[in-house]
Amino acid sequence: FESGSLTGARVVITAGPTREAIDPVRYISNHSSGKMGYALAEAARDAGAQVTLISGPVNLPAPERVQVIDVVSARDMLEASLARMGHCDIFIASAAVADYRPLSPEAQKIKKSGETVELTLIKNPDVVATIAAHEQRPFTVGFAAETQDVDSYARGKLVAKKLDMIVANDVSRNDIGFNSDMNAVSVFWNENQQSFAPRSKTGLAIELIELIAHRYQHYNDN
Ligand code: C5P
Repeated sequence: FESGSLTGARVVITAGPTREAIDPVRYISNHSSGKMGYALAEAARDAGAQVTLISGPVNLPAPERVQVIDVVSARDMLEASLARMGHCDIFIASAAVADYRPLSPEAQKIKKSGETVELTLIKNPDVVATIAAHEQRPFTVGFAAETQDVDSYARGKLVAKKLDMIVANDVSRNDIGFNSDMNAVSVFWNENQQSFAPRSKTGLAIELIELIAHRYQHYNDN
């Protein structure tokens, strides 16, 4: 028996997209597959952590020996995350949370009528920023999907959301990232950065968990 780099750590990971209801049969969402978050959950489990995956709707099997909490909307994801906060050492936000939701979803299916239809959207709560804003907070890792100026936007989010680390990927490339099995990222923390060339999401997840475990150890020692 070999003990891993996260033995005893309680890790909560958000993954996948969220769905925001327009009416009982329609929603707003995005193309997140959840693959990166699920791969991180397996890698954290294999590193010895006790893992909870808070997952939006995805087409992936639940990883073995990982507690999966299924959620639909951003507000469900926030509620589930807050409920786990007191039992969490490391919070990793890989979910592609919808930034906005329909202000007042209709109780009945919207009928086809005019040529255009207007939908008013309201900002969703920011799950990872809400967690990071707490005084008794876990070591918090965010993700940033950017299409331009990846480094500066990612660093901006690291500071604005009070994260301990941020993992940035360039989603303007369609060979990697969203819905792909491959990903390439740069990770930022304090004044440091580490880049990972394109590789499989499962391989990348193992390396990201190693780096996160290393930084988490350092954070605990200080
Ligand atoms: O601001 P942006 O959406 O680019 O930030 C991405 C990071 O913030 C990701 O870690 C994502 O999971 C998290 N996020 C969140 N709640 C939101 C929006 C983003 O937790 N409403």
